[in-house]
Amino acid sequence: MQQSSNGGGTNQKRRARTRHYLMCEPTFFNVSYSINPWMNPSRPTSTERGLAQWKTLHDLLAELGHTVDLVEPVAGLPDMVYSANGATVIGGRALVARFRYEQRVDESTAYLDWFRVRGWEARQAEYINEGEGDFLYTGDVVLAGSGFRSETKTHDEMREFFGKPVLGLKLVDERYYHLDTAIAVLDANEIMYNPEAFSPQSRELLAERFPDAILADASDAAVFGLNAVSDGLHVIIPQQAERLPDQLRERGFVPIGIDMTELLKGGGGAKCCTLELRAGR
Ligand code: ARG
Repeated sequence: MQQSSNGGGTNQKRRARTRHYLMCEPTFFNVSYSINPWMNPSRPTSTERGLAQWKTLHDLLAELGHTVDLVEPVAGLPDMVYSANGATVIGGRALVARFRYEQRVDESTAYLDWFRVRGWEARQAEYINEGEGDFLYTGDVVLAGSGFRSETKTHDEMREFFGKPVLGLKLVDERYYHLDTAIAVLDANEIMYNPEAFSPQSRELLAERFPDAILADASDAAVFGLNAVSDGLHVIIPQQAERLPDQLRERGFVPIGIDMTELLKGGGGAKCCTLELRAGR
């Protein structure tokens, strides 16, 4: 079923397309190790608050008409809540992650099983590949982040597996260690991003390919404003973002602010908690 409504902006008619997402309840959420600069194990975390924030996101996606499936959380894998990292899924095929850090390695089995049991074609990546954390599909190209997590060696297997072009982008600021902390796909071939997160060469590539992109300023980037989930009309962003809501409205999108500050202690926001399952191309 296609859900549609018009955006409020002046220059564009926007349309929401219903999506299929995979999420993982943060039953075992905590910050007991540090594999990115946001994670500080000596700072207290609240599983209860993490759960409440996650549930708000989950219920919002469902209210917007999207299908949300769940993968069972595994004790001892507190980062499993960031399901975007579990795989990249396009055209009904799932390339399951191979994680860089030992603390997350066992998540791959849970994701592989989830896909296989439900009849999705799935295999694990040969090289380090952190799923939609680093691979964002714009509708005709897969934007591929490297520098901190996924290896560029995985780009060839991505091309082969999905039959899509892959555009490599180099991340240079360790706070934005995954591509989905620096770029969000808003609609087919429309993105918003934080130029400062990229190498000069990648900045040029982005400017050339996406001349009309929304550019986030440093303070919106720093509250994880780019870690956004868009259905083509509604864009879920952190409520702490200041300029992005207006920038999005100007383009006809409907920004929806939510609070993900507890899950940000693990280095993730709304997008990190949402893996899109694309049955079609
Ligand atoms: N603690 C997790 C890690 O460092 C956070 C992952 C965030 N996910 C994302 N899609 N950026 O791997």
